[in-house]
Amino acid sequence: MTKRTPIIAGNWKMHNTLAESAALITALTKAGNKNHVEIIVAPSYTSLAKVAELAKGSEIQVAAQDVHWEDKGAFTSAVSPVQAKDAGATHTLIGHSERRSVFGDTDEILNKKVAAALRHGLTVIFCVGETLEEREAGKTLSVIESQLKNGLKDFTEEQLKGLIIAYEPVWAIGTGKTATPDQAQEVHAAIRAYLAKAYSPAFAEATRILYGGSVKDSNVDEIMAKEDVDGALVGGQSLIAEKFARIINFN
Ligand code: PGA
Repeated sequence: MTKRTPIIAGNWKMHNTLAESAALITALTKAGNKNHVEIIVAPSYTSLAKVAELAKGSEIQVAAQDVHWEDKGAFTSAVSPVQAKDAGATHTLIGHSERRSVFGDTDEILNKKVAAALRHGLTVIFCVGETLEEREAGKTLSVIESQLKNGLKDFTEEQLKGLIIAYEPVWAIGTGKTATPDQAQEVHAAIRAYLAKAYSPAFAEATRILYGGSVKDSNVDEIMAKEDVDGALVGGQSLIAEKFARIINFN
C-alpha cells in the first residue's frame, strides 16, 4: 500500500456521446471515496467542457487525453493546452501508448507536449510502457528509462513538481491481460529509482506512479496492495460507473 495519496484515473478514450458522458460523470459523483483518493477522468474533447461542468463541486478532476505543443495555430484537428484548460481540464495525459503507436508521437514530440502542458499549469500524467516483444527481449527497464529520459528531457525537478507517471505495459492495454502485482511493483520501483537518480530522492518519493493495463474491479485490490503502486489508470472499466466506483473504492 502506498504512502502517497492514491490516484484513480479513468481514460474514456474515443467513447461516449455527450449524453453518455453526462450520465457517467453524474453517476461517478455519487460513487463515494472511502480511501480519499484523487479521482480523475479523461473524456474525449467533445465531452470535456460538459464533464468539467458536471464534476464541479465534486472530488472529481478532469483531464485531457492529449494536448498539442503549440498554444494555437494552423493545426487542424488538434487541441491546445490553452483550449483544454479553458474547457475545464486540470490534467492531461501525455504519451499514452495509443498516441505513440497509432498517431506516431515520438519522444521528441512528447517532450514538446509536456513543455506546453507545464507552461499552462496542466498536471501531466506521463505514460510509459513496453511492448510484449521488448519485455520478452528483456528490455523492459531500458525502454521505460529511455521513454522517461527523452520525454522529460531538459525539465528541472522544480518544473516537474506534481508530475504523475503511468506505467502501462502495451501488452496489457485493452487485452484483458494484466501485469501481475509483482511485475507492476518491479517496474514501479525501477521508475522510482530512476527518478531518484535523475532528479532527487525527495522527488522520487513524492511522485505518484500509476499502473494501467486491464485494471478491473476484480484485480485492483491486489495491484493497489503494492508499495510503489500509487494508483491506477483505467480504460475499459472506467466507462462503467459501477465498475469504476468499485475501483475508486478499492480495498
Ligand atoms: P484498459 O486501458 O484498462 O482498457 O486496458 C488502459 C489505458 O489504456 O489507459
